[in-house]
Amino acid sequence: MTFSNQLFFVLFLLLPLLRASHPKDCSSSSCGLQDVHARFPFWLDPNQPDFCGHPGFDLHCTISQNTALNLPKSGTFLVREIDYRSQHIRLYDPEACLARKLLTFDVSGSPFSALYLAKYTFLTCPNEVVKSSGFDSIPCLGNSTSSFLATTSLDIAKSMLPSCQIVKTLDVPVSRPVVTEKSRFSTYVNNQDLWLKWDSPSCSNCERNHLRCGFISNASLQVKCFPFEKSGTNYSSYNTINCNK
Ligand SMILES: *[C@@H]1O[C@H](CO)[C@@H](O)[C@H](O)[C@H]1NC(C)=O
Ligand SMILES: *[C@@H]1O[C@H](CO)[C@@H](O)[C@H](O)[C@H]1NC(C)=O
Ligand SMILES: *[C@@H]1O[C@H](CO)[C@@H](O)[C@H](O)[C@H]1NC(C)=O
Repeated sequence: MTFSNQLFFVLFLLLPLLRASHPKDCSSSSCGLQDVHARFPFWLDPNQPDFCGHPGFDLHCTISQNTALNLPKSGTFLVREIDYRSQHIRLYDPEACLARKLLTFDVSGSPFSALYLAKYTFLTCPNEVVKSSGFDSIPCLGNSTSSFLATTSLDIAKSMLPSCQIVKTLDVPVSRPVVTEKSRFSTYVNNQDLWLKWDSPSCSNCERNHLRCGFISNASLQVKCFPFEKSGTNYSSYNTINCNK
């Protein structure tokens, strides 16, 4: 065999592998070694083309290889988990200060909505008041003079006047139906993950039957279930594309 023949032979053997690493199919994609798998209705931009997912369900990888979701009016969140069967997505704040995001949270313009809502009142108090009473404050919103408190009880918030100031009362998305808090002030609203749900497109039937959801055709946003080959049995039809390249 001549050298060029050998080269040709090696390339011939490698070609299917090279092709397999291209983002040519929509089955699943993830950021680095992350556990969060992006598949329909989600799609991982730019690893997967936009026709792999539904509008508003685009995810991207951060520099640190986390999966991120951008909500048009509330900015970027990191994805902890996607539950495709229940159609829930669990998000957290990259700056580890969820309360700050929740104060101006607006999910409109996205396909998602809150799993549960709870009415919280936020207030600021002088540090001395909070220290002497031992209340739990939200550290990332405090500063050298004021502490930030949250409570589900407007009455408790009002009882702190006039030394404290009420910032606002609003419905915030929470991860579980709120049970009456044991303490007067709680940091739960800051320490929880943010669970959202989506109702459309409805793919939980496909997921429950171990099928994969997708568009019926590229001409409409209607979806149906497709058969799905398990990972490992056919690499070329279940192509995990990584961000680290
Ligand atoms: C601390 O926070 C309070 C309430 O948010 C604000 O009014 C005050 O100006 C802040 N002080 C400093 C030193 O940043
Ligand atoms: C659907 O995809 C096929 C194949 O990629 C393409 O030929 C066709 O033009 C597309 N149709 C529409 C409506 O985009
Ligand atoms: C693997 O999947 C590809 C694309 O779906 C298909 O063409 C091929 O026949 C499959 N191979 C096996 C061994 O099932």
